[in-house]
Amino acid sequence: MKIGERHWRTIWSDDEGRSFNVIDQTKLPFELAVCRIETLDDAACAIRDMVVRGAPLIGATAAYGLALASYTDASDGAMAAAFEKLLATRPTAINLRWALERMRERILSARLQARPAIAGLEARRIADEDVECCRAIGVHSAALLAELSAHKAGAAVNVLTHCNAGWLACVDWGTALAGVYAAFDRGINVHVYVDETRPRNQGASLTAYELGAHGVAHTLIADNAAGHLLQRGEVDICIVGSDRTSANGDVANKIGTYNKALAAKDNGVPFYAALPSSTIDWAIGDGIAGIPIEERSAREVTHVRGRGAQGELVEVQVAAPGTRAFNPAFDVTPARLVSGIITERGIASASAAGLRQLYPERGA
Ligand code: MRU
Repeated sequence: MKIGERHWRTIWSDDEGRSFNVIDQTKLPFELAVCRIETLDDAACAIRDMVVRGAPLIGATAAYGLALASYTDASDGAMAAAFEKLLATRPTAINLRWALERMRERILSARLQARPAIAGLEARRIADEDVECCRAIGVHSAALLAELSAHKAGAAVNVLTHCNAGWLACVDWGTALAGVYAAFDRGINVHVYVDETRPRNQGASLTAYELGAHGVAHTLIADNAAGHLLQRGEVDICIVGSDRTSANGDVANKIGTYNKALAAKDNGVPFYAALPSSTIDWAIGDGIAGIPIEERSAREVTHVRGRGAQGELVEVQVAAPGTRAFNPAFDVTPARLVSGIITERGIASASAAGLRQLYPERGA
């Protein structure tokens, strides 16, 4: 997507995977900085410290991380160690394991000398395919927005989204926001309510930033305001992303998603999850029992980061000193609250049957 006149991707390599570049998301929305990653350790830190984040982008970063590790030592042992190091960075987004397993298969099937070039190529392929998947998700979800628009006689279609599931969370386009961009580019009048998404505020710092850069009308709301807006008929559709979706259609996404789905259900507002098939964990049926939930530092709850009066990035404490805090980073929205799952192949009902119908190669 564009920032100013330049088309950006969140991740790219100029040297076939010997190193790669990412947008440093810890600096947004105040500074658009690029971070060059040259070692396996830097790649692992970039994921763990959320320089990059968002399930599809975590997967692409891990793929490039394994590629650059292969330029140092592509032996089976070194690749296994690099695989484990990257896999340990964040537990919930299944795209991480998906990308690493795909890379490992390609790398180990090649001769030692050929491995780095093959790994670089495969990482590039994973990134390019993510762009294609997200573009296709955008086509399917823009059709939903077009339908809603037709019933609103030109008035804005109001979308509610949570966290950041836009292009910054992917390589380009986004998942939840891909349809918003596609609809906007087609001239559909669309407006997005953006949940701030405490504790890390991905909605305020990333979603509002990227929608603004593209010119899409949006309004930032406190997380606690969403139920009120849904009750008042201010939201036509909720669209969120996912970090892992079970084979039964349960959707793990940023903490707070479940509350929105409950309020949407109570008020008869459709609630969709948009995700590439790399986010589906076919090995897990019951998402609530099976999906591991990342627990992050309590400091993310007791403190808030932002820009100070002199323009500097500062962290301030918002809880009384010594307050104990608990910080689960994701929750699981059960399939019964999800109106549909928007994938690159189309929209499935949130159920085992619905997902298998779109992905018959996954078997019965
Ligand atoms: O902790 P984060 O910022 O990596 O969490 C991201 C989300 O929860 C996104 O909504 C999810 O990855 C879907 S991304 C397209």
